[in-house]
Amino acid sequence: MSTPVTVAVTGAGGQIGYALLFRIASGQLLGPDVPVRLRLLEIPAGLGAAEGTALELQDGAFPLLHGVDVTDDPRAAFDGASVALLVGARPRTAGMERADLLEANGGIFGPQGAALNDVAADDLRVLVVGNPANTNALIASAHAPDIPAERFTAMTRLDHNRAVAQLAAKLGVPVHAIEGVIVWGNHSASQYPDLSHATVNGRPATELVDEDWLADEYIPRVAKRGAEIIAVRGSSSAASAASAAIDHVRDWVDGTGDRWTSAAVVSDGSYGVPEGLISSFPVRSVDGRWEIVQGLTIDAFSRERIDASVAELVAERDAVRALGLL
Ligand code: NAI
Repeated sequence: MSTPVTVAVTGAGGQIGYALLFRIASGQLLGPDVPVRLRLLEIPAGLGAAEGTALELQDGAFPLLHGVDVTDDPRAAFDGASVALLVGARPRTAGMERADLLEANGGIFGPQGAALNDVAADDLRVLVVGNPANTNALIASAHAPDIPAERFTAMTRLDHNRAVAQLAAKLGVPVHAIEGVIVWGNHSASQYPDLSHATVNGRPATELVDEDWLADEYIPRVAKRGAEIIAVRGSSSAASAASAAIDHVRDWVDGTGDRWTSAAVVSDGSYGVPEGLISSFPVRSVDGRWEIVQGLTIDAFSRERIDASVAELVAERDAVRALGLL
């Protein structure tokens, strides 16, 4: 068996952490032949929950799990890490303005980026889950000048999975019949789930659904699914978010072949998204790197929606820049 890979998970005492860690320990993140060492990072108030989860991980007797450390020190958590799942974030509380939220999260993701820069492994891959995920990833990357920007990603895979699942449910087909769905932009209600390149058993999805359903039901349903889960479940998506994080990293490491998925990656200027923003695109993973799928035709309906979500990302970037966080 190979040398254990260090996987750091922040916010490990939270609900996504609880759904995520056992799947990592069982080999679903990096594969059935790769032993892992887990490092759980929490703030002091969350250490008890993380330590309790560590005890349960031990009780799982996972053959691939070569140790669990719990800490509130980012440098200890990220030391030698090849994968960092940045889940812990400051939630928006009542009366909090957007600038306050961005500033509070800048105070988390700036120092975490700097710590990753100093102590993580050379092959580090970062997935930011904690919201506002795209901008938190941008802040972390800006504080890690020695780590290539392409290694910092933010999670829109849950949105992508929701977009696939909602189309499958509408048409009564299995999810594996669907290809080419795209989520563009920000992981927020402004995101654009795009079916204009999607196929269902090889047929264009746009031939199978009508425009009114697309504009009035499908797009808002996917974009607001998080709120629907909170309304029904009484708390926010956790297991589906953890599952999407597993999908994202597994595809990144193993490759996607010709299949596309969606991930928020650093823009190279493709599709008019300003260079340097971390925005969701159609992507393939090739040789361990995300590649933005090129050459797609963007119609006027899509252009307007992509631009609106990207404008929100630009506004977030400008706000954190004004706060001195970039
Ligand atoms: P939670 O509140 O159950 O857990 C968050 C944990 O993070 C808490 O235990 C807290 O103590 C910890 N934490 C806070 N600041 C930290 C720091 N500086 N370092 C380490 N740990 C810290 O929240 P939950 O449900 O696990 O969600 C986590 C984040 O994921 C939230 O920001 C949520 O909005 C986001 N999310 C993102 C999704 C996406 O698709 N990108 C989907 C679902 C949730």
